[in-house]
Amino acid sequence: MGSIDATPSPSSLQGKIALVTGGSQGIGAAIALQFARKGIAALAVTYATNSKGADSVLAKCLSISPGLKTVALQADLLDPAIGPSLISKTLEGLGTRQIDIIVNNAAVLDITLQQPFAEITLDAFHKLMQGNVFAPMSIINAALAYLPQKGGRLINISSIASRLANGDPILVYGASKAALDSVTRSLGSLLAVKTGATFNSVGVGATRSGSTSAAADALGDEVLQAVVDQSTIEKRIAEPEDIALVVGFLASEEARWINGQHIPANGGYKELLALQG
Ligand SMILES: NC(=O)c1ccc[n+]([C@@H]2O[C@H](COP(=O)([O-])OP(=O)(O)OC[C@H]3O[C@@H](n4cnc5c(N)ncnc54)[C@H](OP(=O)(O)O)[C@@H]3O)[C@@H](O)[C@H]2O)c1
Repeated sequence: MGSIDATPSPSSLQGKIALVTGGSQGIGAAIALQFARKGIAALAVTYATNSKGADSVLAKCLSISPGLKTVALQADLLDPAIGPSLISKTLEGLGTRQIDIIVNNAAVLDITLQQPFAEITLDAFHKLMQGNVFAPMSIINAALAYLPQKGGRLINISSIASRLANGDPILVYGASKAALDSVTRSLGSLLAVKTGATFNSVGVGATRSGSTSAAADALGDEVLQAVVDQSTIEKRIAEPEDIALVVGFLASEEARWINGQHIPANGGYKELLALQG
């Protein structure tokens, strides 16, 4: 383990190679930009359908860090072979045999799959679990052979919903994020020593993005603000950058002693604070 003196810029991501899923908008886009600010060497982002969004995010990354190597890759969380397929496309697209950092940020958020308890179909259940639990596991599993000897970072984007008693219609979504947290803990325990990597999840609260602007459209800004006022001590919805700062830290050498954890990034969510006693 290097001493602090031997790492003059410990929070830098200089020389690192990263894959961020769902980097075409929202939180994933902010993470990609934060990685560029921290001097990352090569960056792959994925999108489902929005290739223009992914290209525009990478163009912004390049304006921050002109020497950056980038690639935008289409990936479908419901592809049973997503792990091997995406990792091989990432290696090829970036011309590398190593991936230092993986951020499993993309999730199945399709509103039509969020069904009330009494109406949950097996098909919707399967899709949420496959996209939000199996796909990140498959990506991590396929990446293991390409992690560095020490210092790999596997970061899964979870949600406050993983810890709450959720109302309709997000019960299965919450269960999928709770399963993702469980898998993250287990992989930390199973693989941290063998791989020299850290495995953590980030418990995101309400954040301005594609998925929340749909909710704002449905509820109206004032109603959404009232919900946020009641639920967080900061009395505001997060900006994607608030989450990206936490992920940038977890990806860095400074976070080397955080492993197998669920890191809350929610501005002080009152219901979760109450659970801490
Ligand atoms: N925003 C929040 O309030 C909030 C709260 C808690 C947790 N989270 C978590 O934060 C993460 C990012 O959410 P976000 O709000 O930033 O979402 P977003 O703005 O809707 O972006 C979602 C990203 O995932 C990609 N994606 C969506 N469905 C996909 C699929 N089936 N296969 C592959 N890629 C897919 C999208 O690609 P396209 O652009 O091509 O569609 C996009 O890049 C998710 O894991 C979410 O559960 C968000």
